[in-house]
Amino acid sequence: MNHAVYPPAAQGRIQGMAAYEALCQEAATDYAGYWARLARELLTWHKPFTQALNESQAPFYKWFEDGQLNVSYNCLDRHVNAGKGGRTAIIFETDDGQTRHVSYAELLAITCRMANALKARGVKKGDRVVIYMPMSVEGIAAMQACARIGATHSVVFGGFSAQSLRDRVQDAGAVALITADEQMRGGKALPLKAIVDEALDGGSCPSLKDVIVWRRTGGKVGWVEGRDQWLHDLLPTVADTCDPEWVDAEHPLFLLYTSGSTGKPKGVQHSSGGYLLHAALTTSWTFDLQDSDIFWCTADIGWVTGHSYIAYGPLALGGTQVVFEGVPTYPDASRFWQMIAKHKVSIFYTAPTAIRSLIKAAETNDAVHPKHHDLSSLRILGSVGEPINPAAWEWYFQNVGGGRCPIVDTFWQTETGGHMITPLPAVTPMVPGSCTLPFPGIQAAIVDEMGNDVPNGTGGILVVKKPWPSMIRTIWGDPERFKKSYYPEELKGYYLAGDGAIRSADRGYFTITGRIDDVLNVSGHRLGTMEVESALVAHTELVAEAAVVGRPDDLTGEAICAFVVLKRARPTGEEAKAIANELRNWVGKEIGPIAKPKEIRFGDNLPKTRSGKIMRRLLRSLAKGEAVTQDTSTLENPAILEQLAQPI
Ligand code: PRX
Repeated sequence: MNHAVYPPAAQGRIQGMAAYEALCQEAATDYAGYWARLARELLTWHKPFTQALNESQAPFYKWFEDGQLNVSYNCLDRHVNAGKGGRTAIIFETDDGQTRHVSYAELLAITCRMANALKARGVKKGDRVVIYMPMSVEGIAAMQACARIGATHSVVFGGFSAQSLRDRVQDAGAVALITADEQMRGGKALPLKAIVDEALDGGSCPSLKDVIVWRRTGGKVGWVEGRDQWLHDLLPTVADTCDPEWVDAEHPLFLLYTSGSTGKPKGVQHSSGGYLLHAALTTSWTFDLQDSDIFWCTADIGWVTGHSYIAYGPLALGGTQVVFEGVPTYPDASRFWQMIAKHKVSIFYTAPTAIRSLIKAAETNDAVHPKHHDLSSLRILGSVGEPINPAAWEWYFQNVGGGRCPIVDTFWQTETGGHMITPLPAVTPMVPGSCTLPFPGIQAAIVDEMGNDVPNGTGGILVVKKPWPSMIRTIWGDPERFKKSYYPEELKGYYLAGDGAIRSADRGYFTITGRIDDVLNVSGHRLGTMEVESALVAHTELVAEAAVVGRPDDLTGEAICAFVVLKRARPTGEEAKAIANELRNWVGKEIGPIAKPKEIRFGDNLPKTRSGKIMRRLLRSLAKGEAVTQDTSTLENPAILEQLAQPI
């Protein structure tokens, strides 16, 4: 297939392909030395490290092990100490369009007060703190406050259910939880504290002693004396300065739960030094963030993108960024364009799913088309979370970027901490739909099932051949699962990303072809098929058995399709619709609204082999509405296929 190729921009920290190649060469010649140089240049160390990489306990790699630093010091104090305290760190915009500018000095003071408040409640270095907060200055300060005192935070996305929150609090063994009374999204107040109360109900989380509540809306909330405390009661009682706790580079900065192909979500553990290095470095090289820029990443702090490119990367560089509380479609689908014009955003980073929904909105209602807004401040656009289809890429490039802004299609994962494969704005000619080339130093490759390199033009398994500073350190509490999931023996010690990929024959550009495991990507949100299946069968009254697959969806990338066997006769017509609805809401309550299946179909049974294995490949074809061409001779009950082929 012939693709258009778009030239890189003139402006960027790394200038031209020769400079890119020189960096790759430097890493190839002295891998540890390359990262050590960057770690010295980008971060401020309290105690310098003497060794960059320790591989003695591979795959439990250690970076900058004997160095000490504090992440919050690097994100806040060092800018204030350099006389940049008055610089705007955050331009916060509420759901209803009010704006608040927060300087670095102010953000440092809020962070210190929050850190002192945590300390006053007995939280100390190494403790885990769950943060269940809306998009807010306070949410970011809560993360920074944990980093300041050496507590390990685990942010839980505000859209997750009580059950999901409880699972994470328990798994992390969290001692404290920071939340808000409610959150505002799309003009509606949605509960947070009430969900926390439900999650902690009945002493289900014995480790958790303190709940600190930020008042966002003033909505009514329940209260547990002795456990719950208003943030506004705590803050005035403590100082607005707090000495940073110097921690080892390997000290766990955060856990972030993400879905795998089996079992419950896993707590991905990230380090302090290596993680911050890559968050800062990629913000610098991929986004070219300069003092004159206004950066805006539309992710939520509940996802890794909101960690690396809101809470840490831009702050580590002393940048100015927009933080948005609301949703792209409120009050209407021109909200992003309005905000870019209003705040003169120059670097804009969002997800393909948002772009696709805004394209659709602009097609049906011309009034929300970006052309009605002055977007001339933009100079770099970014995409993350899922493959961006060439049509959406072109629209984004032409209509948002005015045909002049490079699009950095950044491939990475919760586990990788920062960008792995991405164009650099002044380096890489862009091909829509391709994330192009590895970030300098990242040894991405495509191999077969035995770990052997495959030639360009041949699809295979995406791996990273060498450890890198911001990589996942372990799965919290389950090092064996870490090894099994990411370092399977047959892959020669390479990191297994879980995605398939192909490199183009001409340029060697990477294109991600999708997950090779049972992980789904719905609107850029990661979900395990098993997770959704477990949620369905947890409805013990109704559900006997369930199998979940993904199918391509124009808007959400992938959509969840569930095949369900009920404990009663297979329903049809209106009754089937009512039960499907009940089950969708049930999954919403078990996991969160993002996990609700788009479609549910009922059968008397599921297609199984004679040994009882569910044939998922068949289900994937049925979900897509394709004729079944696979061999069904091993199928125990072929008649079932006809039932399951019918949408209700
Ligand atoms: O399948 C890949 C897809 O998202 C997965 C990682 O999801 P998560 O850990 O939630 O992190 C999302 C934000 C970094 C990957 O395994 N993915 C992410 N970025 C891209 C992508 N697929 C294609 N192109 C991308 N740019």
